[in-house]
Amino acid sequence: MAAYPAWDPESARAIVARLAHLEGATLPILHALQEEFGHVDPQAVPLIAEALNLSRAEVHGTLTFYHDFKTAPQPARIVKLCRAEACQALGCEAIVETLAREHGIAVDDHHRADALVETIYCLGNCALGPSALVDGELLGRVDADRIAALCRGQTQ
Ligand code: FES
Repeated sequence: MAAYPAWDPESARAIVARLAHLEGATLPILHALQEEFGHVDPQAVPLIAEALNLSRAEVHGTLTFYHDFKTAPQPARIVKLCRAEACQALGCEAIVETLAREHGIAVDDHHRADALVETIYCLGNCALGPSALVDGELLGRVDADRIAALCRGQTQ
């Protein structure tokens, strides 16, 4: 997984300046910042507001409206674990319990810096559940040990 550079106000300012001329520049700028740093630091809000002649509230509203924009650095690895109906029938909740009990990994614990196991609802892989998505790779028939190993940085 890509390691992102720390938030840097000067590079952020350069990105904003490069894209400010675009029509409806807020979203392209936010995407470019997230691509560069892996998240959009709230410090970007006044930069963008000033460059685009918008209020800070408008920029903040756009940043927080779209859930894909992250406002804090993300963990090194994110494992999305499906907890929708078909995967429930195939034991995903037992995985959640075992992860917590035997591996000390709480699902949806956004405070971990190393890895996050995040709930998702249906990955379209229902027949082969429980399903997970890691680094863009869809995995079927996962169990708690495999999820824990993925959290430790092992590849599929
Ligand atoms: S319910 Fe889990 S992949 Fe569809």
